[in-house]
This record gives sequence, structure tokens and C-alpha cells, in this order.
Amino acid sequence: MAGERTSTMTGILGWFDQRLPVMDFWNKHLAQYYAPKNFNVWYYFGSLALLVLVNQIVTGIWLTMHYKPSAAEAFASVEYIMRDVEWGWLIRYMHSTGASFFFICVYLHMFRGLMYGSCQKPRELVWVIGMLIFLALMAEAFLGYVLPWGQMSFWGAQVIVSLFGAIPYVGEGLVQWIQGDYLPSDATINRFFALHVVALPIALLGLVVLHLGALHEVGSNNPDGVEIKKKKDAKGVPLDGIPFHPYYTVKDLFGVGVFLTLFAFVIFFEPTFGDLFLEYDNFAPADPMVTPEHIKPVWYFTPYYAMLRAIPDKLSGVIVMGAAVMILFLVPWLDRSPVKSIRYRGMLTKIALALFSVAFVTLGWLGMQAGSDTQKLVAQICTVIYFLYFLLMPVYTRMDAVKPVPERVTMHD
Ligand code: HEM
Repeated sequence: MAGERTSTMTGILGWFDQRLPVMDFWNKHLAQYYAPKNFNVWYYFGSLALLVLVNQIVTGIWLTMHYKPSAAEAFASVEYIMRDVEWGWLIRYMHSTGASFFFICVYLHMFRGLMYGSCQKPRELVWVIGMLIFLALMAEAFLGYVLPWGQMSFWGAQVIVSLFGAIPYVGEGLVQWIQGDYLPSDATINRFFALHVVALPIALLGLVVLHLGALHEVGSNNPDGVEIKKKKDAKGVPLDGIPFHPYYTVKDLFGVGVFLTLFAFVIFFEPTFGDLFLEYDNFAPADPMVTPEHIKPVWYFTPYYAMLRAIPDKLSGVIVMGAAVMILFLVPWLDRSPVKSIRYRGMLTKIALALFSVAFVTLGWLGMQAGSDTQKLVAQICTVIYFLYFLLMPVYTRMDAVKPVPERVTMHD
């Protein structure tokens, strides 16, 4: 019949394959997708982020079966899940721990991108889509945190939503529009729930598909920053490439094993992770009449929160915090180095990345503290270092004394 494709498969699989190109897809993205053979430990975090995304969706669906999105019932429904729903405690801890592990994976994944120049041409779009994922993930985490309607959910929502109030003219109206009320309330929970369980997960899934689609179009970078597509054999297979399946599916499974061990350890022995993954203040129901002594976000937002607090003027603080995230979008164009990987870059880039990392971690710590005058000063210094890393990037990446890049990838033990 015209238009009918022939399949290499027989039986029921052949029937499907003739109607939907499953085999083509499998080959294009797995069995004949050639990834560089020198991936190291930094290359685990993409697949691990994908695993956590699946974990969040599956556990989220089960939580939704028992959670009540209303100001009157939300807190009690979470307690009900923890105490009365069979295995409810496990599902909830898998979800709450999953949120923190998601950010651990994504931060390490982004750091790898900076280290190995993975955002440079031709992977700019992979990075930009990655940044859209990062924005969606931040929104998803914030909205989810409000849902248990504990003290920190309420006051965290109050602090973050009121930031929009700093926008001239429209600010106040915008705050009420977002909350659906004059303060975080029943209407707020309801809409945050809709966004958290439907809108943003769909956006995240769609963006991840685009992220991987864009990556597979150009192929993966690697710790040497060598483009493996430049050296191919007679059949057009990159000399330094190995089929993703079975080599990296198996390797990634090892990463999954290590990851799940750590994940299980936290879930079973330290689910609050000492106030870091679940904050103690959030085990008390929301009370609009009692402000907690010390309002702070979960650890993955504290670097940005520290920047917000470091700037005395509210609007300027909001702008600086927003710019700190948005500037990451520009890295593919700020990085002018002729080489990709940190292995072949000079001292300037290495020092810049080290200073940036120290500043980021320090900001993360400062964002959890009460905020003395000295701490505020340190936060201001770290904020300046954070921005200089990006703003001076076009200068130091061009000035840097780079080393010769090998023709082929190198294998390290
Ligand atoms: C839900 C979150 C994310 C998932 C599931 C995800 C998934 C993946 C996967 C599976 C890969 C291929 C394997 C690997 O290189 O590790 C990858 C590569 C990549 N991702 Fe992500 N990613 C996420 C977020 C991000 C973010 C936030 C960024 C940066 C802003 C980013 C930037 C990149 C880049 C540049 C590559 C290519 C790396 C290379 O080839 O060296 N990703 N991602």
C-alpha cells in the first residue's frame, strides 16, 4: 500500500511499528544515538533530574488523592496523610525530599554546563531551554511549598507575593490579583494548587522534551569539550561516540543506584534534614495573626533571598534578585572563550568560577541566617562577585591563556 513503511520487526511490535515509528525513535535517541565515550560523574545529573521529575509526578498524583486545597483543611489533610493514610508518610517524604534532590541535581547539572562550556555554540538553545526549565522549577517549588498551609507556607507566600507590590503603579493591584484576596487565603491555595499540579508539571514535561530534542539535534558535549561529530568513520559514526543504549543506559543505572541509596537514607532517617528540606516552623498551622520570628525560604532559594535582603531598597532588591536569575540566560553569549572545557582554559576562568561558586554558597548560607549588619555586608560583597562573574565574562574568557585542545577525547581513570 502507498505510504506503508516496512518494519524490521514482526508480530504485534511490527504492526505497531508500521503505524507509529517506534523503532526509528528508539534508534535515533537511544540505540544509534552516539554519545561521547568520556562522560564522567558530572554527566549523571541530567538523567537523575529526569528520574526526580518522574518521582515528583508519581508521588504528587498520590498526594493529590488525599490533600484538600482549602485554607480550612489543607494543614489537617497533610497531617492525615502523614498519620492515617497507608504509606502516606512515605509518599509525602518522597515528594518533599524529591524537591530538594531536584534542586541538588539541577544546580550540579548547571554547574557542569558552566565548567565544560556546554552552553557555547552549538548548544545555546539547550541551555536557554534549560533556563526556562529552571524558572518553571522555581515557580513549581514555591507554589508547592505554600500548599501544606503551615506557618512558613503562609508567611513565605506573603513575603514573596508582596515583592510584586514593589512594582510602581500596578504593584498593589498585582498582589491582590495573584492572591485573589488582600492576603494569602483560601483563593490563593486553590489557584496555587491548580498551577502546582496541572499547569507547571505540563510546562516542565514539555520543556524537558524540547531540552532533550535540542540536545540530540547537536549531540552532547563532554568533559574535554571536543566536538565528536568532527571525526567520523566511513559509516558516519563519530569515532569517539558510543551508542547511548546499552552503554549509558547501564552507566546511568549505576548512578540511579547510588542516588536512590542517598535518597532512601534521607527519607528514612532525616526527612527534615535539620530544618533544611522541611522547615520546623512549617509544622505549625498557618496563623495570619502570628508572624514567625525568622521567615526564610527553603535552602534552594536562599542565595537569591540573601541578595534581596542585601539591598536596602525593596524595588532595587527585587530587580537585583530577578536579574541574578535572568543573567544566566546570557551565558552562551557572554562566554567568548575559544575553548569549551575548563580543562583547557586558563587560570582567569578557573579563578572566576571558583570565586563565583564560593559567593553563591556563601549567599545560600547567609540567606538562612537572621541577617546581622556584618552578614548584610558579606551578602553585598558576594552579590557583587556573583554579577561580576557574568559581566566580566566576555573580558576574562577572551584574555585567558588557553591550552591546546586535543583532536580526540581523552579518557581519565
Ligand atoms: C528538569 C530539569 C532538567 C532535566 C530533566 C534535564 C535533563 C537533561 C539530560 C537528560 C541531559 C543529557 C544528559 C546530561 O548531559 O547530563 C541534559 C543536558 C544538558 N542540560 Fe539539562 N536538564 C534539566 C535542566 C537543565 C537546566 C536548568 C539547564 C541550564 C540552565 C540545563 C542545561 C543542559 C545542558 C547545557 C546540557 C548539555 C550538556 C552537555 O552536553 O555537556 N538543563 N539535560
